[in-house]
Amino acid sequence: MNALAELRSRFAQALTELTPDPATFAAMVKPTQDAKFGDFQANCAMPLAKQRGTNPRALAAEIVGKLDIADLCQPPEVAGPGFINIRLRDDWLTEQTNRNVTDSRLGVAPVAKPKRIVIDYSAPNVAKPMHVGHLRSTVLGNALYRVAKFLGHYVLGDNHIGDWGTQFGMILFGYKYFLDRAAFERNPVGELARQYRLVSQLSGFHDAKAEHPKAENRLAQLQSDLNAAEANKPANDKSAEKTLKKLRTDVSDVREQIASLKKQIEAVESSPPLKALAESHPQIAELARLETAKLHGGDEENTRLWNQFVPQCLAAIQGIYDRLDIRFDMTCGESFYNPMLADVVAEFQAKGLAAESDGAICVFIPGNAAPFIIRKRDGAFTYATSDLATIRYRVNALQADTMLYVVDTRQSEHFRLLFETAKLWGYGDRELVHVNFGTILGKDGKPYKTRSGDTIGLESLLDAAVAKARQIVNENDDGKPEGRELSDAARAAVAETVGIGAIKYADLRHNRESDYVYDEDKMLATNGDTATYMQYAYARVAGIFRRGGINRETLRSGGGRVVFTHPLERALSLQLLRFSEALDGVLAENRPNILTDYLFATANSFSTFYQECSVLKEPDEAIRTSRLLLCDLTARVIATGLDLLGMKTCEQM
Ligand code: ARG
Repeated sequence: MNALAELRSRFAQALTELTPDPATFAAMVKPTQDAKFGDFQANCAMPLAKQRGTNPRALAAEIVGKLDIADLCQPPEVAGPGFINIRLRDDWLTEQTNRNVTDSRLGVAPVAKPKRIVIDYSAPNVAKPMHVGHLRSTVLGNALYRVAKFLGHYVLGDNHIGDWGTQFGMILFGYKYFLDRAAFERNPVGELARQYRLVSQLSGFHDAKAEHPKAENRLAQLQSDLNAAEANKPANDKSAEKTLKKLRTDVSDVREQIASLKKQIEAVESSPPLKALAESHPQIAELARLETAKLHGGDEENTRLWNQFVPQCLAAIQGIYDRLDIRFDMTCGESFYNPMLADVVAEFQAKGLAAESDGAICVFIPGNAAPFIIRKRDGAFTYATSDLATIRYRVNALQADTMLYVVDTRQSEHFRLLFETAKLWGYGDRELVHVNFGTILGKDGKPYKTRSGDTIGLESLLDAAVAKARQIVNENDDGKPEGRELSDAARAAVAETVGIGAIKYADLRHNRESDYVYDEDKMLATNGDTATYMQYAYARVAGIFRRGGINRETLRSGGGRVVFTHPLERALSLQLLRFSEALDGVLAENRPNILTDYLFATANSFSTFYQECSVLKEPDEAIRTSRLLLCDLTARVIATGLDLLGMKTCEQM
């Protein structure tokens, strides 16, 4: 059971006569940081007393008088200016713990009212191989999916792939003009990916060529503005300082832009075959766009090729999903919604929600300057149109109550307008949430790229982490007191589990809105807030049972009970009880890091317990059994928690 939620609801009951808004004040019951204040603390008396103009300590005493928690707590204490300190009763806590010992759900009750939740995650554009930029949505989305499902919601994981956009125009063009037939026969997706890179490099080259002189002009202008501003700078003038500062950053921004343009240009010009290709295809960007337009217009050849390419592209990304242990309930990408787009626009027009502006069809959202364009001047539908069709489908066909979009923060504006538009359209009763996240950075603090500036393929990222994990596993196993324990095959399997787990965990443990630096050494550290540490904690417990020759199922059903003989047993039990609270927390805010924090605290709590309390060597049989039960419960909570985050454990490492 979620003890915190239970306490809050008891507080809410007690507060009903004292405030019209009991829930807000009940939410001020929190777990304590320091056990000397009890297990939970409520600080609602102070703000409530202020509101009512009464004495906070007296009000705290009054709340305590109304509180009905004697079945689970010791009598609460009022402390300091009016804090209410709460300590669970030991008999209640052991009772709960003993119940959880034999409960396959570890004390986590399924939600009373399951929702139908669609989680839109991963969603790569499939014309090119998956890269580091797809990691966060994939990992975060899958963790939310697993937690929501475990909590009893009806969840659909939908991979809303980009299978209809400009990238397909690029590979269609490349296929028609540059294809290496033999390479394509050997490895179709590899060759299509090469085409994608080639076409985008060549069109990028022409764009850069056109942009470069303009950027040089901008730089010259900015530089002369800056010189003038510096020469005429009045002393001690704040606003002049500001202007100067702004000019300096502008100059350095344009310099950086020029450097990257030059790099793009040089990459082509330094290679005679590339240069020749670029020269013979000056209109490549336009022609690739035309291929997309032809595909959208139903052109026979492009449709045939598209039907051939998409399954090949999907098979390639499936390899990554298999390795990451991710399955979707549906993969309805942009192409799936294509047949519905004209009707969506017609519906908006018929309802008077969209109007023509400059040839485009736009939704004007009250209070928003920018219109939401659902059909462009040239007749093409947009990302917005497709997302609107998606909402309608998810509501009508899938009966979704809640739709979570696990997508990069850079798309925030799109989702803000999309959700506003959906409200106008009549879907205001549905919960639409952009579960946004920040960027993965390299050690230089810029978006993570290879040294030559290319995006990092997801496959190679996984390979590198697994290779590093293998080194750690080898060293650890070689260094065991009795010598090596694992076969080569077992080491390889452990390395895969540890390497993939490390990447996922490092991604999940950060506040999702923050950017974070990708650091393989840190994420694989055996000590610290890492999957590796948690996986070792699990294997350590498994080791206790192995060494003791104890079967865990037999132990659980053996009728032994958890008893408290040491404060650390109690502390660990309380921590294990809080699993349910952590899972509810994850879903309340769509934050898997609440669960990683919880698991880290649990592993630490176990560690201190295990240092102080002997287990296998404990002479008193009842105490030994009790401690073994706590070890078993810890292992199951850690393994289940990791599983809900999409990570595996190993019995032996
Ligand atoms: N394919 C898109 C991209 O790579 C993400 C799609 C997210 N989902 C959605 N319904 N818009 O940017």
